[in-house]
Amino acid sequence: MTVLEHIEAMRNDYLSELKEFLRIPSVSTQGEHKPDIERAAHWVADRLRAAGLDKVEIVPTKMHPMVYGESLHAPGKPTVLFYGHYDVQPPEPLELWTSPAFEPAVRDGNIYGRGTADDKGQVHIHIKALEALKKVDGQLPINVKVMIEGEEEVGSANLWAFVQANKDRLKADALIVSDTSMLGPGVPSITYGLRGLNYYELEITGAAQDLHSGVFGGVAPNPITILCEMIAKLHDKNSRVTVPGFYKNVVIPSKKERKALNSLPWTEKSFRKTVGSPGLGGEKGFTIVERLWCRPTLELNGIWGGYMSECSKTVIPAKAYAKISTRLVPNQDPDKISKAVEKHIRRLLPKSVLCNFETLSTGKPWVAPYSHPIFRKAIEALELGFGKKAVFIREGGSIPFVTQMHDTFKVPCVLLGFGLPDENAHAPDEHLSLENYFGGIKAVALFYESLANL
Ligand code: BES
Ligand code: MN
Ligand code: MN
Repeated sequence: MTVLEHIEAMRNDYLSELKEFLRIPSVSTQGEHKPDIERAAHWVADRLRAAGLDKVEIVPTKMHPMVYGESLHAPGKPTVLFYGHYDVQPPEPLELWTSPAFEPAVRDGNIYGRGTADDKGQVHIHIKALEALKKVDGQLPINVKVMIEGEEEVGSANLWAFVQANKDRLKADALIVSDTSMLGPGVPSITYGLRGLNYYELEITGAAQDLHSGVFGGVAPNPITILCEMIAKLHDKNSRVTVPGFYKNVVIPSKKERKALNSLPWTEKSFRKTVGSPGLGGEKGFTIVERLWCRPTLELNGIWGGYMSECSKTVIPAKAYAKISTRLVPNQDPDKISKAVEKHIRRLLPKSVLCNFETLSTGKPWVAPYSHPIFRKAIEALELGFGKKAVFIREGGSIPFVTQMHDTFKVPCVLLGFGLPDENAHAPDEHLSLENYFGGIKAVALFYESLANL
């Protein structure tokens, strides 16, 4: 039996096992889910053992554990490190899910549930591909290290320390990641660029306590108004970020790269449909693809304060809050950007309020050449698994581990994405196409197999 025949015969088993994984609500941002995080880590460790990896270990960190396993029984053959994450985003708002977030359901050729695309489904693709190779051939054709983390969705705060403390253990000839998307259905894609991410939280304080808006209104500063005025100044009329120096080190892609990215098989029409808003926005002078993948942004993620319940309350709130993030591209320096954003915000605020500015996390952008022979192998495997030609894309999302690995080991990072842009990652009704799930298992198995002759 060939490995592809084996995978074909195991379809139902794979899918019911994936559902088991998806039923564990391993939400990394919510303390009440700590036991579920632990359960998911154990589940992953058990599956890695069942796939034939050895030295499988659950490594504690300051927050959520990493799961590590390896199979180093192919002397003289390349060693790859596969990375993914078992934690997921919160499922709220629950009422917008067609079927409950943690009760996976198959509809119209997709599997629905939190974590299907980001990233449990994609992690499972690799575990099953490795298991299939081991079952059919008795031994893996290459050396494999697997690291699945539990705090990617909260910014991978403990990752850098872990990578630095485990350099020998993590050392490999290449990093393999599946935590991105394909350009569109039937277009297998390899991502060679990600944006970096800085995340900030802001607290604006006016009066010593909430005040009666009749008694004090007209004189006391209103932190919500002041916050909004400040925020309104963060972009100019061309939607460019006004932070001084924000664009200073931004690399404009070469003519050749712009041409390649803008001629990918991608349509504005389907993109507009996925977004679903009456119109689009963004920086003047760049195409949509360039704005998404090659340009930095500043986004408001949340803004709150004051009275938000039923009926009315006449009050001048003492405080107002905002969560702000910046997506970064080469060669912006996250620490410099963080300082520049803070300085700019402080300068825009009047003396009548206090501002507490906190940088919650920082992360570098990543763009790398794809000339290493491993990319040829990936292209060939994707073509065999999907029967379609693969393309090279950049993406706007961020995966801190990729940059950290690339900086530490200077090895090629192969990002094989099996999600789709309209699969609602981080949103209600997240799903993964079954065609991509099974095609992914096949392509990944063939990819690992082909690396024996790299
Ligand atoms: N899988 C995503 C990253 C991603 C999404 C890359 C789409 C490319 C396309 C990852 O789980 C994620 O959500 N990352 C966060 C950053 C993290 C530091 C919280 C993000 O991009 O917002
Ligand atoms: Mn992810
Ligand atoms: Mn995510």
